[in-house]
This record gives sequence, structure tokens and C-alpha cells, in this order.
Amino acid sequence: MEQAVKVWHVLEILKVTEAAFADKGIKNPRLNAELLLADVLKCRRIELYLDFEKPLTTAELMAFREFVRRRLKHEPIQYILGKTEFYALSFNVSPAVLIPRQETELLVEEVLKYLKETGAKRVLDIGTGSGCVAIAVAANSDCHIDAIDISPDALQTAKENSDLNNTTDKITFYNKDVLKEEIDLNDYDVVMSNPPYIPAEEMKTVDDEVRLYEPASALTDNADGLVFYRRLIELCQKAEKKLVLFAELGDGKAAYVEGLLKEKGVTNYRITEDLIKIPRVLVAEFN
Ligand SMILES: C[S@@+](CC[C@H](N)C(=O)[O-])C[C@H]1O[C@@H](n2cnc3c(N)ncnc32)[C@H](O)[C@@H]1O
Repeated sequence: MEQAVKVWHVLEILKVTEAAFADKGIKNPRLNAELLLADVLKCRRIELYLDFEKPLTTAELMAFREFVRRRLKHEPIQYILGKTEFYALSFNVSPAVLIPRQETELLVEEVLKYLKETGAKRVLDIGTGSGCVAIAVAANSDCHIDAIDISPDALQTAKENSDLNNTTDKITFYNKDVLKEEIDLNDYDVVMSNPPYIPAEEMKTVDDEVRLYEPASALTDNADGLVFYRRLIELCQKAEKKLVLFAELGDGKAAYVEGLLKEKGVTNYRITEDLIKIPRVLVAEFN
């Protein structure tokens, strides 16, 4: 006799998946289960609640199981879904790019405030990754941005994101190594960067979700975590015009970066705290 194949319904599969995620220590297990299922069923998360008894087709069940298998291995949900949100905009994400972080929105806010106050228009984004900072700034201001990254794959995703957010004409992307190539900052009013800032030593202690899945070249400078700040300060000091540097600071980096600025005689700067009171964005004026 043929065995009846079990039919799974929305509520039932959500409960089982939530328990499996919780068991593996995945934070917000229910939310994770709902986001994955909503993506498979091509509906909004809230719509799951309107049809708890809906049965899943075999194809939907297989697709959902594959998502759950990946999430149970701690692959970030943004990579599984291939997308995320930043500054209320949609971004595609691939394993070639850092997943945009909420704290980086403060960098965008500080830059936008400055552009609005001064009317400055020429901006450089160093280490653009997914393009999230450049695109959020371009989408909310009247400026032109040059954005550079060492990774051609990241730039590919950044270009897709720029098209997706209708900023294609406002951003030009370049494949450059900021540590090895000379970059003339005389063409810019503003330099912004969220550089790799995790010291090599600390990489061992970073969460598996980050360490095993996000690109190492976006996370660490393989040294003391200050390599990019030194380089940014050096490049800004070489410019022969007024320039403002906006840089995201890693947790615990502020005092070290202040030390670098003092060493180089840069006194005109401030550091803004994020929502949880971590000194997060450096705003430094040069020349
Ligand atoms: C912390 S991620 C920031 C990505 C994005 N701006 C964001 O805020 O989510 C740093 C970026 O710097 C890029 N990068 C690393 N080394 C670089 C170098 N030597 N020159 C240019 N870009 C570099 C990485 O590929 C990565 O995309």
C-alpha cells in the first residue's frame, strides 16, 4: 500500500522550524522562520498570519527545507534571501559583500546633514561593498559620488544596487586598492568610508555567522584594525583643499583613532555616538 505523503501547513511548519532554530541558538527563531517562509510563498510576512492552515506544495516545501538547512548552519538570513534593507532602501546582497549594518546608517545621516548645510557635491566612498552608503547618500541628496572597492565582485553587486535604487547616473564605481594606489582627493569635498576595522587578533572571537560567511577582506585589515584609518588620514592630509572625512569607527576604536589624529596634528574633529552610545562616526576637517 502506498504511504500517504505528509502535507505541511503554514502554522505547523513555522512552529517546528522555530523550535529547530531555537535549538541551534539562532536569535529571533520565529522571525527567521517567518521571513524564510514568506520568501518561499512569495507573500508578505503578515500574510502568513491570515492563512495559517494553508498547505505547502511539494515545490514550496523543498525550497523551504533548503533555506532552513542553510540557516541551521548559521548562514546569515540576508545571504539566503539575497537581499536586505538599509536606510529604508532595498539592497541585493551576495557573499562578496558585507551585509549592511544598521549602525552604518549614522554615517549616512552625518554625511547627508553636511551636504545639506554646505551644498557640497563631490563625494568619494572608500570601500563601497554593496554600495549601501553611496546609494543611500546619492538617493537622498544632489551630489555625485565616486565609489571604490578592491573587490570586482562587490562592485558588480554595488552596480546592481545602484540601478535598483535609481542612482545609476549619480554614482561611478571604480576598482581600486586604497592602500596601494594613489588617490587624488583634490577632486572631492567629502570622503566617506566604513573600512575593514577588526584587528587580526579579534577575528577568532567574531560570531560564526560573520566570520564564516562574510568576506574577510571587508572585515579585517589583518593587522591592528587601524591600517585604513592611518591611510585615510594620510590621503586627506595630502589634499590641497578643504576636505571633510566621515569614517565609521569600530567598537572601541575611537580612542586609538583620536591618537592617530593627534599624532598627525589634526585637531578639528568630532565623534558622534550611535543609538547605544558607542562612539561610531568620525567627522574630521582637513586643510
Ligand atoms: C566594512 S566593508 C564596508 C562595505 C559598505 N561600505 C558598508 O558600509 O556596508 C569594507 C569594504 O572595503 C573593501 N576593501 C577592503 N580592502 C580594500 C582596499 N585595500 N581598497 C579598497 N577597498 C577595500 C572591502 O572589499 C569591503 O567592501
